[in-house]
Amino acid sequence: MPFEKVLEPIKIKDVKIKNRVVMAPMNMTYSTQGGYVTPQDMAHLARRAKGGFGLIVSGAVIATRLAAPHVWQRNLYLYDESFIPGLNMVADACHAFGAKVFIQLSIGFGRQGHALDGTQPYAASAIPVYINPDMVPKGILDFVAQYPIIAEPGYPIPREMTIEEILSEEKEYAKACRRAVIAGFDGIEIHAPHGYLEHQFLSPRSNKRTDLYGGSLENRMRFLVEVTQSTLEAVKGAIPVGVRMSAAEHMPEGFTLDEVKQAAKTLAKLGIAYLHLSDGSYEALKYFFPNSVEEVEQHLLKEAKSIREAIDIPVITPSVHDPSVAERAINEGETDMISLGRQALADPDWPNKVKEGKVDKIRRCRRDCICIGRCLLGLYPRCTVNPELGYEQYDSALFPQRRVALMPPAIAKL
Ligand SMILES: Cc1cc2nc3c(=O)[nH]c(=O)nc-3n(C[C@H](O)[C@H](O)[C@H](O)COP(=O)(O)O)c2cc1C
Repeated sequence: MPFEKVLEPIKIKDVKIKNRVVMAPMNMTYSTQGGYVTPQDMAHLARRAKGGFGLIVSGAVIATRLAAPHVWQRNLYLYDESFIPGLNMVADACHAFGAKVFIQLSIGFGRQGHALDGTQPYAASAIPVYINPDMVPKGILDFVAQYPIIAEPGYPIPREMTIEEILSEEKEYAKACRRAVIAGFDGIEIHAPHGYLEHQFLSPRSNKRTDLYGGSLENRMRFLVEVTQSTLEAVKGAIPVGVRMSAAEHMPEGFTLDEVKQAAKTLAKLGIAYLHLSDGSYEALKYFFPNSVEEVEQHLLKEAKSIREAIDIPVITPSVHDPSVAERAINEGETDMISLGRQALADPDWPNKVKEGKVDKIRRCRRDCICIGRCLLGLYPRCTVNPELGYEQYDSALFPQRRVALMPPAIAKL
């Protein structure tokens, strides 16, 4: 069978996933201003589940109240019980189309956060983000040339988090993880890539602390390790817990692939179920949003292979939009699964088209980054090749076609 590897089922702990195609986490900014799920949030993910994605990972959901004001424009939240019913609707909508769904939970954006309520963002250390245009992919740069949203107003200087705050945020995060089980998600993905808070602690570039959370690699990874430990303890094996990390920072003084490998080994020993890679940060956006599949083969897939060889849990790699490259990469042991971000926006039916031998019918993502550029402006994402994006809530075929679980089975294990 062509694309045999891409279509092969896989298990992440006890969760059986029908193929190796993951919808990458994307905050589509469809939520209400207060962080609640909207019909469009549900329909957007249900549409990708209907298109055959084996695993859907939600966009980053903010887990704590302290972190909630420091996001881009709009974001989903889970810092108290009131957010559970909406997120449960999201999980059910994906299940109804045969996909598994993991929630990506964020402990905060740190220095990449904004001051929506006027309060100063907090971070590992008081070091602001600096974006050099040379590190911005062409698509976003073109966009920013018209709307200088990244250069202005720039990033605020954050304040350094206290140890009391670190410990209390870890506890708050763990509570959100238990809410995620109640909401019916099949797994949790700890959101630690792309220059966000755990990444900032890991990086000698953004972490200048002189206490137990700064200095040596062991100290810099302590925050991520503690967040992972408290998540695993809170969830008690009810659902698997994975971590998303950037494979390297690609910036002066930034963390290296070798350091990520060591962190991944430590996390795997703690009991995480999988590692979802990405690359770069807001400061190294061209690695975060690569411009071509060739770039992904030159950087990320090579990094993925070397990390994969160091650990014995499944590795997920994004940005492999081409089914033939995906098949080769899985076959040659570079990655276990691939995740599609912008390509899943361009064509929600990518997995079904691969399965049905209609690869030539896939609507290819142009990697022009209009989707993300619009989010930066506070608009909903749109796509230059998929006019349906953003209007899925009006598609009545997305109403669940079969009954979903009346009670999420994992609750019994909490
Ligand atoms: C609109 C948009 C929102 C995103 N939000 C998130 C997010 O919430 N969490 C995350 O880990 N990555 C996020 N990403 C990054 C994607 O998961 C993915 O890594 C990136 O788009 C590269 O993959 P691609 O080449 O398939 O687009 C976002 C990407 C886009 C386009």
